[in-house]
Amino acid sequence: KIENAKKFQDIHVEAARFYFSNLTSCKNFGYEYLRSRGLDDKTIKKFGLGFSLDSWNSLMDYLISKGYEKKDLVESGLITHKIDSNKFYDRFRNRVMFPIFDYRGNVIGFGGRVLDDSLPKYLNSPDTLIFNKRQNLYGLNFSRKHIENRTIVLVEGYMDLISLHQYGIKNVVATLGTALTEQQGILIKRYVDTAIISYDSDEAGIKATLRAIEILTKLDISVRVLNLKDCKDPDEFVRKYGLSEYKKEMDVSTHYIKYKIDRLKDKFSMEKDEDRVKLAKEASKIIKKLKSPVEIDYYTKYLSKEIGISTESIKKEIYGKHYNKD
Ligand code: UTP
Ligand code: MN
Ligand code: MN
Ligand code: MN
Ligand code: MN
Repeated sequence: KIENAKKFQDIHVEAARFYFSNLTSCKNFGYEYLRSRGLDDKTIKKFGLGFSLDSWNSLMDYLISKGYEKKDLVESGLITHKIDSNKFYDRFRNRVMFPIFDYRGNVIGFGGRVLDDSLPKYLNSPDTLIFNKRQNLYGLNFSRKHIENRTIVLVEGYMDLISLHQYGIKNVVATLGTALTEQQGILIKRYVDTAIISYDSDEAGIKATLRAIEILTKLDISVRVLNLKDCKDPDEFVRKYGLSEYKKEMDVSTHYIKYKIDRLKDKFSMEKDEDRVKLAKEASKIIKKLKSPVEIDYYTKYLSKEIGISTESIKKEIYGKHYNKD
């Protein structure tokens, strides 16, 4: 099994080299695409970005010429075997390629993006002997050397992480679109005490943020959420407003309790009395989970100000009717 893992490692290194040389030897559409997304040559090299040709078996032919067996190529996830027709072909075709590294910097999988807006936008390696999506964090191999103040920024995608790196924000990891898992949370906990969530501002991003908050706070990680203003994701933000604005948003990022209360405010209309009462009750439940009396006091005041219900009745809601204000 260890021997196999070593072999799969080697296959991935060869594949990454192949994709990289496709991209850089002839400056093709893939290269043009990445440049049009604002990435420079240094960044392309650092992240080992590549291109899978518009061909059914160029990678397979290359790896077989290197002496690898079809069976191993299929098990490594790079070659697809169609059982009914007994045909073998490259999983990734005509896509810009993002090698996925483990925290030590070994290539363990790939993500491939189409050059236009056809679907699926990204294709990823399946889980294999060496790649477990739920246990890995994209970019940790780069960012772990750049952790400052035991704080890390969490983003959704390849482009977000790479773009932030190019602009100079290097303490970043990406969860690659999926919701943060507990295993990933535990991995984060090894390096930091504070996580700043900077997922996309769309509905899916908000949902993923709320789930990540639950996982991270359970692990006693202090959580803040970054405000992207009018932008859909960190890549767009940093390209539009630049490094110093993003850093500023990191500094003024929102405590997760406030973020959760604000999401409740989006959910309930503030016009109807019943809705304000429901909001007060739901928000009280969130505040109740806090351990620090100072925090409880602070967010009680915030809630009271936001919805116009006295702090006293919110505290009664939190502590039950035996609450004694002295
Ligand atoms: P997004 O859907 O937010 O990407 O996916 P985007 O920001 O619109 O497009 P680009 O990257 O700027 O061009 C965020 C991440 O979710 C995963 C990928 O890891 C991606 O980086 N994803 C997304 C998939 O795995 N498959 C998909 O079809 C889409
Ligand atoms: Mn997204
Ligand atoms: Mn999207
Ligand atoms: Mn994007
Ligand atoms: Mn996005």
